[in-house]
Amino acid sequence: MADIIKLDGARQLDFDRETVEQAYDRWAPVYDLVFGGVFSKGRKAAIAATNKIGGRVLEVGVGTGISLPLYAPHLRIFGTDISEAMLQKAKKRVDEFGLKNIEGLAVMDAENLEFPDDSFDVVMAQYVVTAVPNPEKALDEFARVLRPGGELIILTRVSADAGMRRFIEQRLQPVVRPLGFRTAEFAWSRYAQWLAGARGMELAERRLIPPLGHFSLVRFRKTDVAAAA
Ligand SMILES: C[S@@+](CC[C@H](N)C(=O)[O-])C[C@H]1O[C@@H](n2cnc3c(N)ncnc32)[C@H](O)[C@@H]1O
Repeated sequence: MADIIKLDGARQLDFDRETVEQAYDRWAPVYDLVFGGVFSKGRKAAIAATNKIGGRVLEVGVGTGISLPLYAPHLRIFGTDISEAMLQKAKKRVDEFGLKNIEGLAVMDAENLEFPDDSFDVVMAQYVVTAVPNPEKALDEFARVLRPGGELIILTRVSADAGMRRFIEQRLQPVVRPLGFRTAEFAWSRYAQWLAGARGMELAERRLIPPLGHFSLVRFRKTDVAAAA
């Protein structure tokens, strides 16, 4: 169901799958130019954490595949995205770099992953959770396809709870929504609430990532208890 929020008690803005898909189809030609540099520190940190674990990795919202050349060669990566145009760029990148560790790239909704339970050692989502219409549903799916003992690693916006940053994020929200972004709906309490209700998941790490402390690298671990339950 589309996520419709009320802003300032008045304006309503739609944030459904079609709107997001179209937004990223439009971003595809210039995405790397605009977001390549600004997000690069976060990507490197997330992939370093992934490379330490190894095995089979699902990268959800892989976009133009900008992170794919950073994975260690012995990992096996499956990339998914909702935008065909973004994925076309990713496919081109795989060919250009001659990457041999990419198992597949497929159009798939983060909220309905077409993989069996416990399929991956790492599920990775970089700057994606706040882009999907129902983030908690996507997080549930990420946890489902992760094997016990594996890690869910997300790079994500954590909105301010109060103060000037919160004021700015709330004002920016209506402007950036049509572009496929959300700024003000992701205080840490939202992630914590998801975690509290997610059986067999625990917080492994939460680390601020540049620029400006708006984003965090968050690692969740799937406990073995989940497998036994
Ligand atoms: C901000 S971009 C991040 C792309 C890439 N991960 C990166 O680090 O540059 C968000 C990506 O999430 C994808 N996306 C948005 N909603 C999605 C959904 N429901 N399922 C799968 N991918 C989605 C978009 O198409 C886009 O490629």
